Amino acid sequence: MGDYQSIYNRSLTNPDEFWAEAAEDIHWYKRWDRVLDDSNPPFYQWFTGGRLNTCYNAVDVHVENGAGDRLALIYDSPVTDSVRKISYQELRDLVAQFAGALANQGVGKGDRVIVYMPMVPEAAIAMLACARIGAIHSVVFGGFAANELATRIDDAKPKVIVSASCGIEPGRVVEYKPLLDEAIELATYKPAHCIVLARPQATATMVDGRDIDWSEAVAGAEPADCVPVEATDPLYILYTSGTTGEPKGVVRDHGGHAVALKWSMKNIYDVDAGQVYWAASDVGWVVGHSYIVYAPLLQGCTTIMFEGKPVGTPDPGAFWRVIAEHGVEVMFTAPTAFRAIKKEDPAGEYIKKYDLSKFRILFLAGERCDPDTLHWAEDMLKVPVIDHWWQTETGWAIAANCMGIDFAPVKPGSPTRAVPGYDVQVLDEEGNPVAANDMGAISIKLPLPPGTLPTLWNNDARYQESYLSRFPGYYLTGDAGYKDNDDYLWIMSRIDDVINVAGHRLSTGAMEEVLASHPDVAECAVIGAADPLKGQLPVGMVVLKAGVDRNDKDILPELVHLIRDQIGPVAAFKQATVVQRLPKTRSGKVLRGTMRKIADGERYKAPATIDDPVILEEITEALKILGYPKSG
Ligand code: COA
Ligand code: AMP
Repeated sequence: MGDYQSIYNRSLTNPDEFWAEAAEDIHWYKRWDRVLDDSNPPFYQWFTGGRLNTCYNAVDVHVENGAGDRLALIYDSPVTDSVRKISYQELRDLVAQFAGALANQGVGKGDRVIVYMPMVPEAAIAMLACARIGAIHSVVFGGFAANELATRIDDAKPKVIVSASCGIEPGRVVEYKPLLDEAIELATYKPAHCIVLARPQATATMVDGRDIDWSEAVAGAEPADCVPVEATDPLYILYTSGTTGEPKGVVRDHGGHAVALKWSMKNIYDVDAGQVYWAASDVGWVVGHSYIVYAPLLQGCTTIMFEGKPVGTPDPGAFWRVIAEHGVEVMFTAPTAFRAIKKEDPAGEYIKKYDLSKFRILFLAGERCDPDTLHWAEDMLKVPVIDHWWQTETGWAIAANCMGIDFAPVKPGSPTRAVPGYDVQVLDEEGNPVAANDMGAISIKLPLPPGTLPTLWNNDARYQESYLSRFPGYYLTGDAGYKDNDDYLWIMSRIDDVINVAGHRLSTGAMEEVLASHPDVAECAVIGAADPLKGQLPVGMVVLKAGVDRNDKDILPELVHLIRDQIGPVAAFKQATVVQRLPKTRSGKVLRGTMRKIADGERYKAPATIDDPVILEEITEALKILGYPKSG
């Protein structure tokens, strides 16, 4: 325990000393020459000159320190009715073997490997195997369609793609192999090989000469050793939604990442080696990268990979069963999961069935945590419920109640204060800090702390343009909000076209691009409308081409199918309506913000520059028919 304010101040006034101290917790083959390398602003690097291996720090080191028998990973899969427990020693052997299999396919340092897999241990094994040999992994979430996978293949240019025959969603088997084959067909760049894990629920049709069965690839492989890499070498690329259909390839380095994540386990989550930590997310998201795979293993914890849902696998007691059965002390998930449980089990009857005595803290992130959900979770679980705020780009929390430092009073709706390392400021249009309680663009003064993105994959220019150009000297988070008198942050909305559906970040711009490709659509807009379960849901407004006479009922299935096919089921796009015109300013800018306010039942003022205010009445009517605004 310590004093948050003095630790926070020291992290900003003396970052070199602060992070060098944290870096002592990591094994280095060669120590760094510089802690913060600020020789090329606005690009900053951490621990330049240092050499390490992330897989060594996450796996081997614990075996060498005598903890080989400790459980590293528990795979709990209600959808296949199975549990598998893997010790650190077993994990090291599995990872080394698979690293050897990758090497046999010509994968070496700096080569990219796409991992398109469900929530099975082999996904984590593939990621760690890449880290072991210095290859760069890029995990693609299983709920994305072939087209999205193809975009990532073309950008990352992987030598090998690791996949599985299928994923399992409640009630249906999602065959991955046809999606993978289609993606490779669509992509301009072709990977040399695919390694495919055969799951009993579906058989993958293999392409001769290109595809290799996981077990065969592993059977013929020599275990590979950890390869020292530069602290600044990329560990992974993770694509995330931007304002257009082109996803951004967030790069994560080795050194800063290992240091920051290990630091976060004790200081933010208050978790020690040997304790069981569970992030109920998916390896396809940043939460899965940081807090299912890397951070808990770096800390020597037991991590849980859960292949199931908060409800329906088989009931709203799934989380409590896992916590009780595996002795989980700290859990991390998205508020939407708790809203789903609360909806099915409002009185918490299922909680009473399990022994949750070991459970200490619940962390929530991925979307704003509404006070109702926070209070419900507190009342039911009788443990601190901590909202914390971060994003794919940062890789770890920007604001949190740092439970390992000192517990600050919870203000429902706020993720508490900036985490040490992050100089968070709220700026006005001109880039000047605003007064307490005033809204503005939430920005982080450069340099960002270790573990955050150094750039976008092969695209320094887009990195600068997207994040650094709006306010020179600051990183633009894309979130708007304010700081109160106690320095608590309040994250209120996005300043761009990114929406948040069930804790998943999606681009309305990308959906508009897809809808616009329908032959009958002249123009369209997609807004994120407030939904009591998923936070937001996408709603499409389409204007049909002159002479096309079709109604909502008629065209909706085609639009839904198009988005599912081009972006994926994860977009949860199920609602659209035909309108005569879109509301616009006289200069032609579509008034998406005004439409969103109408959908959410918020007061709005039509801009003076609107070309025809009558359209807003038509939009209000159309949204009403779709059921908006929804009541909580
Ligand atoms: N592979 C294939 N399809 C997937 C998928 C995957 N890995 N993950 C989700 N999908 C599909 C779902 O089956 C669903 O398809 P459907 O339209 O045919 O029903 C669709 O994508 C939307 O999924 P989702 O938004 O997750 O909705 P849901 O109704 O299945 O579940 C919740 C709702 C709230 C239970 C669920 O979103 C959840 O558990 N969220 C937790 C939040 C989370 O993990 N966030 C990550 C950041 S912390
Ligand atoms: P992702 O990159 O998918 O993790 O999404 C990051 C975005 O989700 C942030 O920029 C926010 O808009 C939102 N977000 C994540 N966590 C929180 C939180 N605790 N409170 C409010 N918004 C959040």
